[in-house]
Amino acid sequence: MEQQRDYPEATGDFTGLLTQIALAAKIISREVNKAGLVNILGFTGEKNVQGEAVKKLDIFANEKMIDALTYSGHVCVMGSEEDAEPIALPPEVSRGNYVVMFDPLDGSSNIEAAITIGTIFSIHRRLSSGADGTLEDLLQPGHKQVAAGYVVYGSSTMMVYTTGQGVDGFTLDPSVGEFLLSHPNIRTPERGNTYSANEGNYQYWHPEMQRYMDHIHEKDPASKRPYASRYVGSLVADFHRTLLYGGVFLYPADSKDPKTPTGKLRLLYEASPLAMVIQAAGGKASTGTENILDVQPNKLHQRVPLVIGSRAEVELAEEFFQGNR
Ligand code: AHG
Ligand code: MN
Ligand code: MN
Ligand code: MN
Repeated sequence: MEQQRDYPEATGDFTGLLTQIALAAKIISREVNKAGLVNILGFTGEKNVQGEAVKKLDIFANEKMIDALTYSGHVCVMGSEEDAEPIALPPEVSRGNYVVMFDPLDGSSNIEAAITIGTIFSIHRRLSSGADGTLEDLLQPGHKQVAAGYVVYGSSTMMVYTTGQGVDGFTLDPSVGEFLLSHPNIRTPERGNTYSANEGNYQYWHPEMQRYMDHIHEKDPASKRPYASRYVGSLVADFHRTLLYGGVFLYPADSKDPKTPTGKLRLLYEASPLAMVIQAAGGKASTGTENILDVQPNKLHQRVPLVIGSRAEVELAEEFFQGNR
């Protein structure tokens, strides 16, 4: 609201869109917090376009995000991790000029263990004209994002987002049913000595990643090495900790599965939105050789290597990925 007041030409459409995303987040949070009590755990028996076994909560969260965005009146096309193709709106609802991509439930493998999970969203302005948005509207590079953010369903439910000028965090007060501004103007520490990576993949990593990992395992008190290891296995949880405390998260290319040579994480609804957030907070996000926000997408579900966190830590890792160490 405050930011909207700073822009006299603002129509309120963006505020309306964000309010709808917050509504979906509240509904998902309510289900997540009682997932063990309702028959919403477990698998649906289906597989998604990623080849992953789909959880009931993946579908529940996906449906809530689609409904909230569909009836916002501010969207002309959507993209979701759980839908192979772009999601068109029903003919009768009014459209708007925004395009939203999302990971409705990130960290699905952690649901049954009541471990932190999240929702990630990325907002672009449409390029196309006409009634319905197009795939091209979805395939825009990260630096074109109008806004990006995520919801983390953890010991508290927080919504963190940026429109490019700074990053703000809002904590859900369930007794009021509102997200309250709890973390204004989040800044990522310049450096940090925690790293977050699935070291079970060590033997599948390319040599530059192995050399980087060996480097931060070495004992050197002057550079606060060895770094401490922190890995939840939910990108949103590992990212949120890295954003607030500093450090670095890495999901690099690996030779584990020939179908996913550039690693597991998806560009449009995982790497790109989090890259906008970290950069607005003073940190950095890279493929190891290129800024994530400069990657030109050509497929909805394309994967990309991700190194994200404190600027100095990402740049140290880049020295290895770029063959300078
Ligand atoms: P999603 O649950 O949306 O499919 O994402 C899962 C991702 C991400 O949350 C996490 O960083 C990564 O999977 C963990 O992968 P590994 O289990 O291979 O470490
Ligand atoms: Mn998934
Ligand atoms: Mn995910
Ligand atoms: Mn997901």
